[in-house]
Amino acid sequence: MNESPQIVAGNWKMNLTLSQGREFLRRFKEFMGQSRPPRQLLLAPNFTLLAGLAEACGELGIGLVAQNCAPQESGAYTGETSVAMIRDAGAGWVIVGHSERRHLFNEDDELLRLKLQAAAAGGLRPIFCVGETLEQRQSGKAAAVVLGQLETGLEGFAGAGLMIAYEPVWAIGTGQTAVPEDARQMHLEIRRFLARRFAGGGLIPILYGGSAKPQNAAALLAQPEVDGLLVGGASLDPESFWRIARA
Ligand code: 13P
Repeated sequence: MNESPQIVAGNWKMNLTLSQGREFLRRFKEFMGQSRPPRQLLLAPNFTLLAGLAEACGELGIGLVAQNCAPQESGAYTGETSVAMIRDAGAGWVIVGHSERRHLFNEDDELLRLKLQAAAAGGLRPIFCVGETLEQRQSGKAAAVVLGQLETGLEGFAGAGLMIAYEPVWAIGTGQTAVPEDARQMHLEIRRFLARRFAGGGLIPILYGGSAKPQNAAALLAQPEVDGLLVGGASLDPESFWRIARA
């Protein structure tokens, strides 16, 4: 178990424009005025919102996260966004290997390894996502898949600033959450791997993601191996994100 405050991170995916993001933060600030959650809060809006939300997030103590980064430093890569650009826009973290990137955009462990190294070299803290499909879980391969993703992705990575998000693919956007006990067990496997792999690796925060919402956040956060949540759909509404953050 990590002694640092738990983390609640919202991944907005390809939702909310800049003006909608500003309105979210205006309303979120009102909830924060009622009571401030005892957790570290992070938000991952689209790239186009980062610079425009940086100041308001800073005032609220919310850390800004990018949803992706290029593995290259700079150059002729039309449509890509570099680590330096992300940092310059005010973000301190980046999500690497979200299951939507893996499955919809064919990002493999080898590419993700390069992205993790680019993030580390450029001073962005990566939130590295891992998780098995339903088929892999049903055939008893869940742990092997997740540990394999960690093994390849983290090869050559020194560990500084790393966070892991365990997001079972079958739980993302489906309303079906992992049973807290299953989440705990997988987090324990991940923690053991990290402890073997890095000095002090047992302290690397491991977030759970997949249909986390106000109704199940407390049960998930109560699991001893769960250091926080990565929230998709339920982070788009300021009240529900705030309720999760306080759960
Ligand atoms: P949902 O919370 O919408 O299931 O999404 C989870 C997720 O993918 C967070 O990165």
